[in-house]
Amino acid sequence: MSSRVIAIDGPAGSGKSTTARAVAEKLGLSHVDSGALYRAAALAALDAGLDLDGPKIVENARSLPVCLRLTSEGYRPEVAGIDVSLEIRTDRVTAHSSPVSALPEVRGWVNEALRAAVASHPRGAVLDGRDIGSVVFPDAAIKVYLTANETERARRRLRQLGRELDEASVQELQATMAGRDTADSTRSVAPLAVAEDAVVIDTTDLTFEDQVARVLELAGNVFD
Ligand code: CDP
Repeated sequence: MSSRVIAIDGPAGSGKSTTARAVAEKLGLSHVDSGALYRAAALAALDAGLDLDGPKIVENARSLPVCLRLTSEGYRPEVAGIDVSLEIRTDRVTAHSSPVSALPEVRGWVNEALRAAVASHPRGAVLDGRDIGSVVFPDAAIKVYLTANETERARRRLRQLGRELDEASVQELQATMAGRDTADSTRSVAPLAVAEDAVVIDTTDLTFEDQVARVLELAGNVFD
C-alpha cells in the first residue's frame, strides 16, 4: 500500500501542504494534510475544555467526530459536521496542536485515519506532515523533506495568513515557529526528523513552481 504514497515532511511553514496539493493534482492522487487532523483534534479539545489527556482527546475526536471528509475539493477537516478549515489556522489552535500531537494516543488515532484515507483512494495519495516518511508510511514510494530558512518560512506563513510582513511581525512569528519546531523535533513519539531515505529539498531560493517540479521529477513515472 505504501508504494502508492508520496510522503512530504518538514518543519512549520516549509510549504509542505501547498506543494503536496499541487503534486497530488498533477498526478491524480488525493492530498491528505495530516497536520489538519492534529489541528482539528486540538480545536475540539480546546472547545471541550479538555486537559492534555490523550485517551480523552481521542474519545472526544471519535464521538464528535473529528475527521477529514472527502469532498469534490479534496479532504476537508470537520468537527461534528462543521467545516473547520479556517478555524484550525488560528494562533490559538496552532499553539495547542503541537502539545496535542505529542500524545501517543492522538498519534495512533491520526495514523489510523491516514492509512484509511490512502486505502480508500484508487491511485494513492500525497501526505504531508512531520513523520509520514519516518513512521506512518516507512515504505512510501517517494520521501521528501522540505525545508527553508527560518526567516523565509515566517514570511511565507505571514503571506499565507494575509498579515503584514514588517520586520517585527516576521521576527515574532519566526520565534513562535522555532519554538514549535523544537517541540516537534524533541518529543519522544515520532519526532520531526529527516527519514534516512528522504530527499531533502531546501526551498529558500526556489520558486513554488520549481519546488513542485522537483517533487514531480522524483515521482518520475512511479504513478503512471
Ligand atoms: O502548517 P504547519 O507546518 O505550521 O503545521 P501543520 O502541518 O498544520 O501541523 C500542526 C502541528 O501538528 C505541528 O506543529 C505538529 O506538532 C503536528 N503534526 C505532527 O506532529 N505530525 C504530523 N504528521 C503533522 C503535524
